[in-house]
Amino acid sequence: MWSVLHDALLMLAPLLPYIPVSLDTVKHGEYRGPLSNGGVWAEAFKMAKDVVGNMSVEEKVNLTTAVIGPCQANSGGVPRLNILGMCFNDGPAGPRYTDFVTQWPSAFTAAASFDRELIEERAVRIGKEFRGKGINVELGPVTGGPLGRSPYAGRNWEAFTPDPYLSSTMSFLTVRGMQSSGLITCAKHYILYEQEPVCTGPLDGEGGRTDCIDISSEVDDKTMKELYLPSFAETVRAGTGAVMCSYNRINGTPACQSDDAMNRLLKDELGFQGFVLSDFGATHSTVPSAMNGMDMELPGEYFYGGRLLKAIKNGDIPHSRLDDMAHRIVTPYFASKQNVDYPKVNYQKYDLADKKEIDGHVFRNEHVNNKGENHLFARKVATESTVLLKNSGVLPLKGIRRIGVFGTDAEYPHTLSGCGPDLFCLVASERRYWNGTVTIGGGSGAAYADYVAAPLEAITLRARQSGIRVDHVLHDDPAHFGAIGWVAYQSEVCLVFVSVFLVEGWDRQHLRLDKGGEELIKKVEESCGGEVVVVLHTGGQVLVEDWINLPKIGAVLFAGYPGQETGNAIVDVLWGDANPSAKLPFTMGRSATDWPTGNIVREMTSKSDPYPRAFFSEGLAIDYKWFDKWNIRPRFEFGFGLSYTTFEMSGFMLDDKYEPVSDTIQPTNEKYEGKADLYAVLYVARVNVTNTGKVPGAEVAQLYLSFPSSEVEQPPKHLRGYTKPYLEPGQSSTVYFPLRKKDLSVWDVRRQLWHIPKGTFTFRVGNSSRSLPLQLEAEVKETDHALLSTTQRFV
Ligand SMILES: *[C@@H]1O[C@H](CO)[C@@H](O)[C@H](O)[C@H]1NC(C)=O
Ligand SMILES: *[C@@H]1O[C@H](CO)[C@@H](O)[C@H](O)[C@H]1NC(C)=O
Ligand SMILES: *[C@@H]1O[C@H](CO)[C@@H](O)[C@H](O)[C@H]1NC(C)=O
Ligand SMILES: *[C@@H]1O[C@H](CO)[C@@H](O)[C@H](O)[C@H]1NC(C)=O
Ligand SMILES: *[C@@H]1O[C@H](CO)[C@@H](O)[C@H](O)[C@H]1NC(C)=O
Repeated sequence: MWSVLHDALLMLAPLLPYIPVSLDTVKHGEYRGPLSNGGVWAEAFKMAKDVVGNMSVEEKVNLTTAVIGPCQANSGGVPRLNILGMCFNDGPAGPRYTDFVTQWPSAFTAAASFDRELIEERAVRIGKEFRGKGINVELGPVTGGPLGRSPYAGRNWEAFTPDPYLSSTMSFLTVRGMQSSGLITCAKHYILYEQEPVCTGPLDGEGGRTDCIDISSEVDDKTMKELYLPSFAETVRAGTGAVMCSYNRINGTPACQSDDAMNRLLKDELGFQGFVLSDFGATHSTVPSAMNGMDMELPGEYFYGGRLLKAIKNGDIPHSRLDDMAHRIVTPYFASKQNVDYPKVNYQKYDLADKKEIDGHVFRNEHVNNKGENHLFARKVATESTVLLKNSGVLPLKGIRRIGVFGTDAEYPHTLSGCGPDLFCLVASERRYWNGTVTIGGGSGAAYADYVAAPLEAITLRARQSGIRVDHVLHDDPAHFGAIGWVAYQSEVCLVFVSVFLVEGWDRQHLRLDKGGEELIKKVEESCGGEVVVVLHTGGQVLVEDWINLPKIGAVLFAGYPGQETGNAIVDVLWGDANPSAKLPFTMGRSATDWPTGNIVREMTSKSDPYPRAFFSEGLAIDYKWFDKWNIRPRFEFGFGLSYTTFEMSGFMLDDKYEPVSDTIQPTNEKYEGKADLYAVLYVARVNVTNTGKVPGAEVAQLYLSFPSSEVEQPPKHLRGYTKPYLEPGQSSTVYFPLRKKDLSVWDVRRQLWHIPKGTFTFRVGNSSRSLPLQLEAEVKETDHALLSTTQRFV
């Protein structure tokens, strides 16, 4: 299937940067990508073949191209054969921009729960809200593009975490959960989309960016396989029906025409049987895109449609490839039974009114409400995802009579007004900065809230029940520092709400708070009659050194982007109705220089290149792995989070225990050494967790491994297990960490396969990536199918 040239290049993989496939190698008319066979969707594939066999060329092309419709994008259908066009809508934190839906905590916030069941149930409930609106394909979840290579990237909050194991497990559960209702998910943005474009023009009249050029991400084979690809592999394994190719280039080639990314990695190596669709505006060509694996263009007809038809008729694209595109689109539609039983589209994009006309088509919003009790579950997710970073004992609040609340972030947000419906509120523009509490970021990851339980509202209601007085000054600017000081001085506890609002299209310029939040915190701290509690609503890492150790800073909560139930969730934690149990899903450094310099590209990198290049030269060492590798002391490490109780762990053991794969929905085609499946469990580690404090609570036990020292490219340790028992005071529980073959393997770039390295592995267990008191060493290997020999040594 592959050209000789391609194979020869592969052999050179260890010597070369990740292999770009030049467009020159596309021989018109000869398709090199794998044709789909449906995998486990054999029956749906058979039906797809049958119906596609009856379609004209025009009808097949219609499937691959968007038409005018009520959704953010609608693909064409073949009504003659009862194949309806599909409705596509963002996004990861709930159906974007319609009414009677829930604004969920965003993915990176929910990731802080480290709770598998919670993540899957969140996904099931989000999926049902999409289905209820008649959306066929959700343009989400974000599963590793961005992964979170740089803390400056403007869209990290839409994804789970920079740790590939945590991101992988959550991506798998999210796809499985969302698709359980018959919805089709679209894993995105494929791949290496780790920052926004470089924009060199002036701001336009609206404060938007101009003259933007997408980045080329330059990465090597090992980093691709071990860091950026695993989350996507898990979405394929979970049976995602669609994958979205991204805006960036990959070693020079636009992602949506990369043979290497789409044909070789996704469709051949991962065995993906669904369809690849383009991000909006990410298609750059007709023939190379189709020949290199892109199956559908969204949102309109630019390079597909008429141009695709012409290319087929000219023989530049073979009919077999057009059939393959049609099979890949129709198979997931049949496999998810959307042809049998699926609600009709009952809303219209970008408008909540009853009726709208676009190009002579009339669309109606029926205001269908499928939320049920989702607000209660959204509150639970937000509560369980709030990380307690510091606590002198001021929390949970008790025995107080007077609270002061400070910061515009405690106030109702502006929604339809100001920033516009997609919350494209531009931080850099004086005219349109964000006002009010930050519950979600802006752009295509924004989800619409019917209401927001603002922090001040929820605190006032809760305080009233206990006869507590609440005063507030909701301004951030120094002009109000007099009033802030006066109110703070008379408060027993001062609650300060600060934020960072992030928007698609804008990478961060710095890691500080918006609107001088640091000055506000310092002013309140200076004046407060008692201790200060700081609540951070930020889309990622912030530097806290200016204020974290000031004497009256009693507590700090990282609440991320918690969605519409923000105030209720923070009240649950402040008053101790819920015991915080979340952990940071990324590392917070002490200084901007703690991260590699230049890992976000802000200008053209060379006069001779037509596009800027980002060199992923840190390899596997992003986030905590970078801090570990260079021995940099973080402020708060990955996996860190406090509780109102205490826990102890004991009895750490590793058992040989082969368990065949039980959760794969679509098998991948990844190459590996040995007989046991790459996703089979080979070992199970276990540890006893005891609640040694006075209140009930949950603890995240975390397992990290270090590869044998022969693996010189490996950072010091990798998360490879997490589990979260809920324990009453004095209660103990044994928790288990299944270790799959892939979790113990590295990618051999020379032999192009996964294998378990020889030598001594170190396993550590504890409550954060820097607090791992229990440790053991073991040789691990797979003997025949069923295993294994370990020699364990406690150290
Ligand atoms: C396709 O056409 C054949 C022959 O006319 C017919 O038997 C078959 O039912 C059709 N299949 C579909 C799915 O339309
Ligand atoms: C293309 O799709 C649209 C939307 O489903 C449909 O109205 C139109 O009839 C289709 N065209 C053909 C040739 O089937
Ligand atoms: C935020 O408030 C400022 C000052 O009142 C105002 O100029 C700006 O337009 C507001 N932004 C939004 C999005 O409403
Ligand atoms: C986390 O573990 C360390 C020991 O490694 C312990 O000192 C600390 O109290 C633990 N944290 C909690 C919240 O139990
Ligand atoms: C761990 O807990 C189990 C029961 O859950 C108990 O049998 C065992 O002795 C405990 N081990 C240690 C080392 O505490």
